[in-house]
Formats: sequence, structure tokens, C-alpha cells
Amino acid sequence: MSSSGEAELLHTFKGIPFTIRSSPELLKSLDAFDARDDDVLLVSYPKSGTHWLAGVITKLYTTQVTVTSPIEFGDVSRLEELNKLSSKRIIPTHLDYNMLPPNFKNKKCKMIYISRNPKDTAVSMFHYYRDNPNLPTVDTWTAFFDLFVKGNVVCGSWFDHFLSWAEHEDETNILFLFYEDMKKDLPKVVKEITLFLNLNISDNDIQDICKKSSFSEMKNDTEKENSDPNHTVCALTSNRKLIFRKGAVGDWKNYFTPKQNIRFQEIFNEKMKLNKM
Ligand code: A3P
Repeated sequence: MSSSGEAELLHTFKGIPFTIRSSPELLKSLDAFDARDDDVLLVSYPKSGTHWLAGVITKLYTTQVTVTSPIEFGDVSRLEELNKLSSKRIIPTHLDYNMLPPNFKNKKCKMIYISRNPKDTAVSMFHYYRDNPNLPTVDTWTAFFDLFVKGNVVCGSWFDHFLSWAEHEDETNILFLFYEDMKKDLPKVVKEITLFLNLNISDNDIQDICKKSSFSEMKNDTEKENSDPNHTVCALTSNRKLIFRKGAVGDWKNYFTPKQNIRFQEIFNEKMKLNKM
């Protein structure tokens, strides 16, 4: 990774690397952010299927809802814009649990956390680092793997992020989803989301929503759009064309060497030993 690139593009707040698209002033103001009882949060570590989940959820509502920009995106003025929105807010975020504005927790807002096999997440993030001008340059997979396992990447350690949320798995206002389950049986997961959000949607409509949310449909739709810098569900880019790469489970096998796999597995087993999920 080029150090000059890193210095220009990332800054650290409370020990976690953010891109300069999240201003330090905004991050400092988050604690005072006013949540609404009916806010829904879409939470993820980057590259876990955030856009996919957001795409599904927007199709579930017949009433007016706004998928806002991520709560950690932009400068402080954006928080004011979020406050002014009159419609129901679906708010994406890559924040870990500890950095989430306390008001969302106190008001028991509904939150959906999507997670993905961290090995596939790492590979997806490697490509994102290479394609996304908002992220530092990374020369090789080997170099990126090292950064990823040490948590020296944007949004910090995958393990810390996941564990910060997984500690709250018993809270009924948080729904945990897995990318792999969505790949395996999307209608089943969508049904689960509708029950969690108290939305009454027929099985036929669910099938239709799933068809429209397939990788190829979403990728095609995106290719036709012009990207609007203010319309983003990921604080790391507004360019949706960077998002739809392969959409597969198990791509890590094309990148991890046997040695990297052993090292990853050891770190995974150690970090996750107390986690039930
Ligand atoms: P890959 O890079 O492995 O292809 P995020 O939205 O959190 O940035 O995650 C991006 C990842 O989700 C990318 O993974 C992208 O291809 C995948 N993705 C996006 N939409 C998808 C869909 N409809 N079906 C399956 N995967 C999807």
C-alpha cells in the first residue's frame, strides 16, 4: 500500500480507519444523533452484501421510505439533512456496535446486520481497494491479506466488527442475516425480513422481488444509471458500478494460498472461540 495514498485517503477515529468521505466532525457528532422509533438500520462490514440487502428492502415497502446515505458519510451538514427527512428512514451503516449513536440502542430501533464469510469478504474488499479511488492503493493480494487479518483496512478488523454486533444476538430488535443464506434461498430470507419488519407481503410478491434482486438484474440496472454522489448506501463510494463484481460464494479459494488459509483459520478460531454464532 502506498503510504502517501493512505495518508491522504484514510483517517483514524477511535482506533478505526475511515475514509475522508466520513469527516472527523461528523463522526464526533454521531453520539448526539437523534434516532426515530421507526428508523431501520442496515448494518454491515463492507463487502458483505449491503447493496443487495438495501435493494431487497426498498422493494418491500409500499409506503414512502427513504434509503438514506450511511450515517457516517459526509460532513456534519448531512446529519441535519437526515433530521429533516419527513419519510421513514432506512439508514445503512458500516459502524461497529460501539460507535453506533446511543439513541438507536435506547429506542430499540430495528437493525438488520448482514454478514458474509470473511474470506470472501476479504477477496471482495481486495478488488474494491484496487478499483475504488477513495481507498489506498494496494499492490498485491498477499499485501492485502496481511492488512486484512491485522485489521489495518477501512472499517477496521472484520472480527472486531462482527463480534461487537454478535454480542447482541439475543436482542429482539436485531436480525442477523448471512450472505450465504441469501444465495442459497433468497425467498426464505426475504420472508424472514418481512416478518421482522412486520410487513405483509404475499409469497408471489416475494418471488417477484427476489427475481428483481438477482445479481444479474441488479448489475444491469446499475449499468443503466448515472451515479449521483449524494445517493449512496456505502460510505466508501457512490459509484454502484464498482459493487457488482462476481456475486459468488467461495471465490476465496481462487486467492488464498494453503498457508494463508491455515493462518486465517487459526486467527478465526482464536477470535471467535467464545462466539455462539
Ligand atoms: P463480490 O465482490 O464478491 O462480487 P457490499 O454491497 O456490501 O459492498 O457488497 C458487495 C458484494 O456483494 C460484492 O461481492 C457484490 O458482487 C455482491 N452482491 C451485490 N449484489 C448482489 C446480488 N444481488 N447477489 C449476490 N451478490 C451480490
